[in-house]
Amino acid sequence: MKKLKIFLLISVLGLLFSCTTQNTKLNTESPYRKQVDSILNLMTLDEKIGQTVLFTSGWDVTGPSMNDNYKEYIKQGKVGAVFNAFTTRYTKELQQIAVEETRLGIPLLFGYDVIHGHRTIFPIPLAESCSWDMKLIEKSARIAATEASAEGIHWTFAPMVDIARDPRWGRISEGAGEDTYLGSRIAKARVRGFQGDNLSKENTILACAKHFAAYGAAQAGRDYHTVDMSERELRSIYLPPFKAAVDEGVATFMTSFNELDGIPASANTFLLKDILRNEWGFKGFVVTDYTSINEMIPHGYAKDEKHAGELATNAGVDMDMQGSVYLNHLKLLIEEGKVSEEQINSAVRRILEMKFSLGLFDNPYRYIDPEREKETVLSKHHLETARKVARESMVLLKNENHLLPLSKEKKIALIGPLANDEASIIGNWSAAGDRKGAAVSVLEGFIKKIGEENIRYEKGCEIIGGDFSRFNKAVEVTRNSDVIVMVMGEHQNMSGEAASRTNLSLPGLQRDLIKSIKKTGKPIVLILMNGRPLTLTWEDQNVAAILETWFPGTMGGHAVADIIFGDDNPSGKLTTTFPRNVGQIPVYYNMKNTGRPIDPNKPDEKYKSKYLDVSNKPLYPFGYGLSYTSFTYDVNINDKVFRPNSEIIVSAKITNTGDYDGEEIAQLYIHDKVRSITPPLKELKGFKKISLKKGESKTITFSISTNDLRFYDQEMNYRYEPGEFELFVGGSSDLPFTHSFELMELNK
Ligand code: GLC
Repeated sequence: MKKLKIFLLISVLGLLFSCTTQNTKLNTESPYRKQVDSILNLMTLDEKIGQTVLFTSGWDVTGPSMNDNYKEYIKQGKVGAVFNAFTTRYTKELQQIAVEETRLGIPLLFGYDVIHGHRTIFPIPLAESCSWDMKLIEKSARIAATEASAEGIHWTFAPMVDIARDPRWGRISEGAGEDTYLGSRIAKARVRGFQGDNLSKENTILACAKHFAAYGAAQAGRDYHTVDMSERELRSIYLPPFKAAVDEGVATFMTSFNELDGIPASANTFLLKDILRNEWGFKGFVVTDYTSINEMIPHGYAKDEKHAGELATNAGVDMDMQGSVYLNHLKLLIEEGKVSEEQINSAVRRILEMKFSLGLFDNPYRYIDPEREKETVLSKHHLETARKVARESMVLLKNENHLLPLSKEKKIALIGPLANDEASIIGNWSAAGDRKGAAVSVLEGFIKKIGEENIRYEKGCEIIGGDFSRFNKAVEVTRNSDVIVMVMGEHQNMSGEAASRTNLSLPGLQRDLIKSIKKTGKPIVLILMNGRPLTLTWEDQNVAAILETWFPGTMGGHAVADIIFGDDNPSGKLTTTFPRNVGQIPVYYNMKNTGRPIDPNKPDEKYKSKYLDVSNKPLYPFGYGLSYTSFTYDVNINDKVFRPNSEIIVSAKITNTGDYDGEEIAQLYIHDKVRSITPPLKELKGFKKISLKKGESKTITFSISTNDLRFYDQEMNYRYEPGEFELFVGGSSDLPFTHSFELMELNK
């Protein structure tokens, strides 16, 4: 009865205050401060420490599992949040323990890795980034939040905003590719999608910017490996997408596993206090990645868990994911004066403020609505949207003699280990995705599109492994076909976390299978399903058409069929460079020129920055992607000279000169020719996606101000410098500059 009284008191406090405050944008002072402090004053130290503890349920495991008696811990008030628990039934069971069986009845926060969809799985984030469509990316996250919140989830560990330039790193699949400008805009779109315009709405969930910071720069692309870089590189390339998430009001941050410049991220005061709190004014809470506090010991940075807990708390970590370090050591650290109770109060305040912002103190069961769960999950609208996003995410890499799109009358031999796959097609981090049943394979999509009488299917080989025994059967099914479509690539678990690879060729015998099929002399269309750039030099030289579909999600098979048979025209553009071979890595579009660049007129000249055995150019560059139609650009700039208080206007008249309606992603690249820190060869500074009917023209414009020309100078000031610039607008990053302009001093 006493518990009920206390909970009622908290609820009354919550109602009293919450009806007067609507928290629309986070990262401003919380409107719930009064009621949070009133609860904080009721809490014992043990109860406060309990709020800083995050445990996984037994439902899913996303790392080394450490505790399975989390229900007992909830009952004892030792847990503030649980992850990997979903469905209204299960979250209600756990929430009832917290609300009705603990002294204060403080509701739990339920978190989950809703990375690219919840039940309706969208293309992997790297795929979505290739759509360059911010509204579509936001809509994808919005649907993910709608479905997740219908199953009791309050918080997603997304967006992952790590810039990645190394395809050996499996987690490149979870982000937005190699470019900071594009990655920052995608970070904002995803935060908007997950959090909506008001967290008090029950179809919105807390977002989490991860992994802070520079996790994608792991040495040699080896997951969890060392990260060491200049502050200039960190601030220029890796931090802006996190800042963009803060500016968009992201509710939480997650620290990364890696060390940065010798200090593990979960103990890194420079990151967590100097930058995140003091420079950026972040007001949400910081959770560690899975047991990353404990991992300070193997990092050689803490002598034991208690020491690690002291370092993490004093660096600014608010919540310990799965590590039990805060649970087991914080009380003693406070008694020993190594951590102040005020620091715990600050952490608990931030956590409780988020629970208030979700309305959990008004009603801890408001996200538990079986009716909403039934009508929302895998709805027709969600599936149709997932199909559209999948189409927009696909990148046409090659289309010799306009082989694609295929006529629906063609006789198709459909071959390959991923042609009839319903598991890998939804990619890694597909969490609650409905692996069996809802996902549509390419075979199913083709049959639905053209009927089964014109399709003959044979798997041919496994994704990995050395079994040649089905090659002959595969060759046999090509006998009466007009064209061969091969669906090849990676298994869903060959990218994502703990999935670094040093050989990026098609795995197993897949290339051998293509070689066998190629002997038939019939044209081959290669459809790729993969979570990272692969090395495809042989394939590029030996098959007629290549479509990159990444892992296209629940509706992937239908989306592939839409593109292959011409019901939609591919428009995706690569957001990550495809190297010719692993030896080229890292290779990305905005590299530096060096002091000995290759002279294009003398490519064989020695003593230049190049390789003896391969070109410096990647196989497919950032920003590249073909269409079934073609586009021309007529670009003009309004002036050749401008001053800091004015701007350059770039206009591009784009014409669809081909035979299909289509979409074009026009990209603006700028090169600062001389400055006090060596400039990259070029930098993306704008993009626009437009639809053009065949024969149609449209003019788009970009404005360039001094804000677009800033960099970190020798004193780490973020500023522009007058001087010569050149630019171009086009459909890929590997095009020549066409215009130049000069930025004058203000007073000249
Ligand atoms: C994992 C991942 C992180 C994820 C977390 C919870 O180790 O690094 O991205 O959100 O644990 O599953």
